[in-house]
Amino acid sequence: MTAIKMTDSKTILDSMFDAESFRTVGHELIDLLAEELQRSLSAQRPVLNWRQPSTEDKSWQAPLPQQATLDLKALLKKLEADILPGNLAIHHPQNLGHQVATPLPVAALCDLVASLTNQAMAVYETGPSATMLERQVIRWLSTLIGWQMQEVNGVLTSGGAQANLTALLAARQHATGSNIWKHGVAAQRPLRILASEHSHYSISRAAGIMGLGTDAVIRIHTDSQGRMLPAGIARAHQDCLSKQETVMAVVANAACTATGSVDPLQEIGEYCRAHKLWLHVDGAHGASALLSARHRDLLQGLEHADSVIWDGHKLLYMPATVSAVLFRSAQDSYLAFAQDASYLFQGKNHEVETYNVSYRTLECTKRMMALKLWTAFSLYGVEGMATLVDEAFAKAQMFAGMLQVHPDFELLMMPQTNIVCFRHLTKGVSGEESNRHQADLRKRIVESGQFHLTQVELHGKLWLRTTLMNPFTQKEHLQALMDCIVSA
Ligand SMILES: Cc1ncc(COP(=O)(O)O)c(C=O)c1O
Repeated sequence: MTAIKMTDSKTILDSMFDAESFRTVGHELIDLLAEELQRSLSAQRPVLNWRQPSTEDKSWQAPLPQQATLDLKALLKKLEADILPGNLAIHHPQNLGHQVATPLPVAALCDLVASLTNQAMAVYETGPSATMLERQVIRWLSTLIGWQMQEVNGVLTSGGAQANLTALLAARQHATGSNIWKHGVAAQRPLRILASEHSHYSISRAAGIMGLGTDAVIRIHTDSQGRMLPAGIARAHQDCLSKQETVMAVVANAACTATGSVDPLQEIGEYCRAHKLWLHVDGAHGASALLSARHRDLLQGLEHADSVIWDGHKLLYMPATVSAVLFRSAQDSYLAFAQDASYLFQGKNHEVETYNVSYRTLECTKRMMALKLWTAFSLYGVEGMATLVDEAFAKAQMFAGMLQVHPDFELLMMPQTNIVCFRHLTKGVSGEESNRHQADLRKRIVESGQFHLTQVELHGKLWLRTTLMNPFTQKEHLQALMDCIVSA
């Protein structure tokens, strides 16, 4: 572990790829990370060491090193002293912010395997094991939805936003029938997407990317529990028909980002079936409820979907990113993209071509994403993984119950999944002033480093928003948050 000598190219290369120093520093790195994990889980560090980004930025203005400035020992020190403490402590029981998984440590080890072996995965021969692991995982997730597939019917992608885009590209091709990929949308009747007013921004971003314009997304109202109204879908659909517009997809949430509400999938699915509309379900957050015998019913009707996305790095407790985009018909999984590239593909009739994942993804080089999911399911089974979902949902119910009976808080709704939204009530303060109060509270609490929580605006009202992801968050941590808000 000596500093790299810049004078001798053989020495440099030997040093870069030295297996022995990889082993030594690797062991030390794992020790360091295990300590950090323990510190976070047992709340022995702040959730966040808040530093003003503009100040922080100044300390990261070093010139690009032309020669080595660090050896491996110094790298470990830098990680320990600076980089890890500057992270949001994702495993901290008072980290209640976004829907980001507290990743399973074994899944992080799998990502190390993926990094070192660097399987490009564009075609089968650039990642044979990676391809087979992915096919296995896709089959498992489809089985959980209730689809018994003969063929592999989807792919893993880097993130839910890209997965939504992939599904909607397929829906667009399906709705138009002609070769949209070649001819574009100019000659088409206007294409529309009907989506919940709470749909994730990646839906309208996909409409923008597809050249439809974000106005092509027609927002459907939700009920008081944040669930899209099926009658609103029917009205918007009829309206589109009367204007000679084509509804290329209905997008339902399971669950929505803002409140964790799950749309009535059964009813929406029946409407879509009856009217031959493509149903896309954004299950980035909530599809994992399928693992749980206790919560599976929440997703009744999901099997009617034509496409479903599912994030591993949310309630499957994977490190980011790994998302699945799945299609009810395996053939539909080829609709999103159409490409000739002789340096990669060998022609549709070649026997290995169906194993080449690039036909179905935006990505060319693609990380080996399936190993961590395959490992987690193999080590813990669906039953073990369901414990994570059950814990998260139970904690959300508990927290909502605590807020509901406290005179200083207003609960938005009982959570359907693991997202809890609430406001702090102050006498005589309402409207804009109350919104400012919630935002100010959040800012102060986050910057204090005691908790991480988020906020969301719904119909002009600002709510504090917590996502109960961490299975080690206990009643006392939630009570401490309420006390902290009241005393703040
Ligand atoms: C419902 C929903 N869909 C899609 C996304 C986007 O997923 P990703 O962040 O993996 O790109 C999110 C992210 O939070 C989400 O909550």
